[in-house]
Amino acid sequence: MVQPTRDDHFSFGLWTVGWPAADPFGTATRPWLDPVESVHRLSDLGAWGVTFHDDDLLPFGSTPDERNRILTRFRAALDETGLVVPMMTTNTFTHPVFKDGAFTSNDRGVRRFALRKILRNLDLAAELGASTYVFWGGREGAEVDSGKDIQAALDRYREGIDTLAAYVKEQGYGIRFAIEPKPNEPRGDILLPTLGHALAFIAGLEHGDIVGVNPEVGHEQMAGLNYSAGIAQALWAGKLFHLDLNGQRGIKYDQDLIFGHGDLINAFSLVDLIEHGAPGGGPSYDGPRHFDYKPLRTEDVTGVWDSAAANMRTYLLLKERAAAFRSDPEVLEALATAGVAELSTPTLNPGETLADLAADRTAFEDYDADKAGERGYGFGRLNQLAVEHLMGAR
Ligand code: GCO
Ligand code: MN
Ligand code: MN
Ligand code: MN
Repeated sequence: MVQPTRDDHFSFGLWTVGWPAADPFGTATRPWLDPVESVHRLSDLGAWGVTFHDDDLLPFGSTPDERNRILTRFRAALDETGLVVPMMTTNTFTHPVFKDGAFTSNDRGVRRFALRKILRNLDLAAELGASTYVFWGGREGAEVDSGKDIQAALDRYREGIDTLAAYVKEQGYGIRFAIEPKPNEPRGDILLPTLGHALAFIAGLEHGDIVGVNPEVGHEQMAGLNYSAGIAQALWAGKLFHLDLNGQRGIKYDQDLIFGHGDLINAFSLVDLIEHGAPGGGPSYDGPRHFDYKPLRTEDVTGVWDSAAANMRTYLLLKERAAAFRSDPEVLEALATAGVAELSTPTLNPGETLADLAADRTAFEDYDADKAGERGYGFGRLNQLAVEHLMGAR
């Protein structure tokens, strides 16, 4: 049961296991990892897909010959293992040219260069069969209020995404875009810092029909938000195109811990939600289970592969625990006590108008608010049942 298979649709970024663990305070603690080796190791562990930024595979500034050589080797590894490339993305944050952002740099030349870099990689994504293209904003943001016209920046962000989305449609690539929100890092103030900001931005796009979100566990939690509640809103909006699973312990820098190694209770409710859908029958999520984590800087190469396996194992264990939770008669009873299913009944009767409601004395004049105020919902008991299932005590 806890052995991952291709059917679990687990995918990993090349930049996750491949992170050499340099941070702002110290140099790399691990050697560069050959992407071809990563493909083989991930395949051996039971993963299904591999994802990457252009520069993870094809170093910035590679010549056409170098690109061809690297791509030939990489494709051979995909063919040998059967691993797929479900998602790709562009690095528009590492090179100094992007220090003031890409789509929203004050420097117009940088913005034009960024569009070209993304365009080239979109063509490669189509060739490799990726169906999702992620846009993490990276350095789209600022530190100095008077140094960035936020409204103009949002205009340029929209221009960039819409221009590229129109291109994807024209080419018939069948790729959808997924915007990845993140607050606080690497700029002090970032555009589209949370899932809610991203959804509002998407609603104003011309080609918003092919643009959704790629929410990351740690990124919502860096803003003190509830990840599984955010995922529920993304599902409700029909915009959960992809997700980044990892762990985070509270409001601090982006930890990118192993999935479940942060807020485990929220990880449990997340897996329950995306595997089973909402209790009221909302959609579940059938896209890749994508891990965007970083092996701890203290790990050696063995620790890298142990941690990759740990992400998948934790997911599968949570999936098993969530299934037990959903089918436990005591849980069903606690859900009924809490009135969870009642929330799916519309507040007005079919055909009822506001005037009808205003004439309904039982809704107001004769309604015993004090009595209704005495109701106990039993949410604490319900959560305890979840915790006990999570701990394997039931
Ligand atoms: C981060 C982000 C990135 C993105 C990646 C793909 O915290 O650095 O999560 O890892 O997910 O750039 O868009
Ligand atoms: Mn992160
Ligand atoms: Mn991410
Ligand atoms: Mn990350």
